[in-house]
Amino acid sequence: MNVLRTKDEIGRYRKQLRQEDSSLGLVPTMGALHKGHLELVRRACRENDSVLVTIFVNPTQFNNSQDLLKYPKTLESDLDKLRDLDCAISVFAPEVSEMYGASPNASTYDFGNLERVMEGVYRPGHFNGVATIVEVLLRLILPDRVYFGEKDYQQLQIVRQMVQQKGIPVTIVPCPIVREADGLAMSSRNTLLTNRLRNEAGFLYKLLGEVKKNFGTKNANEIAEFVREALTAHPDFKLEYFSIADAETLQPVGIVDTTKKYRAFIAAYLGEVRLIDNLPLN
Ligand code: PAF
Repeated sequence: MNVLRTKDEIGRYRKQLRQEDSSLGLVPTMGALHKGHLELVRRACRENDSVLVTIFVNPTQFNNSQDLLKYPKTLESDLDKLRDLDCAISVFAPEVSEMYGASPNASTYDFGNLERVMEGVYRPGHFNGVATIVEVLLRLILPDRVYFGEKDYQQLQIVRQMVQQKGIPVTIVPCPIVREADGLAMSSRNTLLTNRLRNEAGFLYKLLGEVKKNFGTKNANEIAEFVREALTAHPDFKLEYFSIADAETLQPVGIVDTTKKYRAFIAAYLGEVRLIDNLPLN
């Protein structure tokens, strides 16, 4: 497997692909690859001649230093997982200093109301960090397509807006959430759950299923109350936010407009581990 470490190496890789007239799909990740990531890579492989997976734990998107320290770092096993896929994959795994120089700092963006809800409220600065690294990667790598999972749905909307604001010529490909058998959305953080808590984790998806069933018959406040009560009654979960929101603007639903798409969004702690999930409702 071709593992690139520097921007110069990326420059040479990109030049070669251009000479070969090869299309390039980019899958940006922070490593600790799971089946959800591998689905993004498989799709990128089907839709492009070459695929570049970036593995970079981006310090500027962590608003909590403990969270950054705890984040799983598993480069060797990530590379093994990618080697098992039958596809021309290269990996870009730079050091922090290669991407940021001596001091990692995020740029400042204005995402308007998109960042004034949900993750934007609970993780101040997070989206500036995400947008910074995604912009740097897109400008450096110049892929034809870039793949993002819908699990981080707000991130996807933020990246869409950043790409539009900056006029970066790339097609963003959103990919559905991949779930475990009990419905838990795949995430690198799931490995941090103890066995006991892992057995409880499917509860969040069950709850979102109930929300979907009730959407259209109960109003958003009644549904939110039901979710709050269910999680308060659960001994291991602590709700951070729940929202039924317009799938494009992410603003909380008022009166339902049947011409629009809505999604339910949830963030909750299970023990020490923060889980997020979302589900399309119509
Ligand atoms: O979704 C992620 O893993 C990260 O936020 C991303 C897009 C790779 C940026 O660091």
